[in-house]
Amino acid sequence: MKVDGTPRRAIWLEDDGNAIGIIDQTLLPHRFVTRRLATAAEVARAIRTMQVRGAPLIGVAAAFGLWLALREDASDASLERAYSTLLATRPTAVNLKWALEGVVTTVRDLPRADRAAAALRRASELAEEDVAINRSIGRHGLRLIEEIAARKNDGRVNVLTHCNAGWLATVDWGTATAPVYMAHDGGVSVHVFVDETRPRNQGAALTAWEFAKHGVPHTVIPDNTGGHLMQRGMVDIVIVGADRVSARGDVCNKIGTYLKALAAHDNGVPFYVALPSPTIDFDIVDGLNEIPIEQRGAEEVATVSGKTQDGRFETVQIVPDGSPVANYGFDVTPARLVTGLITERGVIPASPAALAETFFDRAGRRATVGS
Ligand code: MRU
Repeated sequence: MKVDGTPRRAIWLEDDGNAIGIIDQTLLPHRFVTRRLATAAEVARAIRTMQVRGAPLIGVAAAFGLWLALREDASDASLERAYSTLLATRPTAVNLKWALEGVVTTVRDLPRADRAAAALRRASELAEEDVAINRSIGRHGLRLIEEIAARKNDGRVNVLTHCNAGWLATVDWGTATAPVYMAHDGGVSVHVFVDETRPRNQGAALTAWEFAKHGVPHTVIPDNTGGHLMQRGMVDIVIVGADRVSARGDVCNKIGTYLKALAAHDNGVPFYVALPSPTIDFDIVDGLNEIPIEQRGAEEVATVSGKTQDGRFETVQIVPDGSPVANYGFDVTPARLVTGLITERGVIPASPAALAETFFDRAGRRATVGS
C-alpha cells in the first residue's frame, strides 16, 4: 500500500541481495524508520521485540531468517539452531511454524551448497504468496462490504476492526484491511472504527497510520467503546484478523477480540474474521484449551509511550509502583460467535466441515497455498 504516495511493502530483499529490509513498527506512527537485517539472530530479535509483527509477516520474516542462517553456515546443525531460535520468538501465531517448516522441507535434502539459494527462493515465494492471498481475501471481503452499502440509504459502511491486521502485519494489503482498501479504492464509502488495542496500541499506532497514509476515513476509539457503538447501530460489520484458527473454527486473535465478538453477537452485528489459510492449525480442534497464549512483559501494561507536545518521545508509568499486572497477548473467540471466515478461497462458515471441505482435497490432503 502507499506511504506518502509511494507503494511500500512491510518486508523486502535489500538491493544488494545480502539482507532483508523491514519497517521498524515500534517507532510508528511518529517515526518511519527502516532497518536492515543481515543475520538470523537479527531477524529473531526483530520479531521478539516486535519491530516486525503480525502473524503472516513474522512467518515470512522467519523464512528469510533461515536463509540468512544458511548463508553463513549451511550445515544441519545450523539449520536446526536457526529453526529453534526463530520458532521460540512468538508462540501464538501458527504462521511462524508453517513458514519455517516450509523452508526446512525445501532445503533439508539438498546438498549444502544449494541450501541457501533454495531457502531464499522459498522465502521470496512465501512473500509473494502472502500478497496474492491477501488480494484474494480482499476481493471476497469486498462483496460483504458492497452488499451492506447497497442496503443502506446513505451507502456508508462502518467497519470496526481490532489491533492491526493491516498491511504492516503482512507483506502487503493486510488481511482484515484488504476488503476495506479495495472498497475505498473502488469508490465505496467506507469508514473504520479502529480499536486502540492496549497494551501496545497496534490499532492507534499502526492501523490508524496505515489508513491515514492511504486516505481511508477512520476514527480511533478506546478499546471499551465498541459495545456502545454497536448498541447504537453505528457499526455495520466487524472485521478482525487472526493469529491461529482451530480445525473447528475457534479464532485466536489479539486480546480483546472476544469481547468485541460478544458485543457483536448481542447486537446482531456480523462478526467476520479475515485470515490466510496458513493461519489455520488443523492439528488443534479446541482453540480455547489448546492454543498457547503468549504472555508478555509487565512494562507493556504498566507504561504508555508516545510523543510529547514539544515533540519528544517519552514513556510514562500509569500504574502505582509495585501493582502487579497481567499481560495476555491473545484471546480465543469460540466459532459460534463468528459469522464467517473470509479466506483466500471464499467466505465460509466457522465450522469443522466448511474448513475441511475448503482446505482438503478428496484424498484428505491439505491443499497447498495457491492451488
Ligand atoms: O502481537 P501482534 O501485534 O503480532 O498481533 C498480531 C496481530 O496484529 C493481530 O492479532 C492480528 O489481528 C492478526 S495478524 C494479521
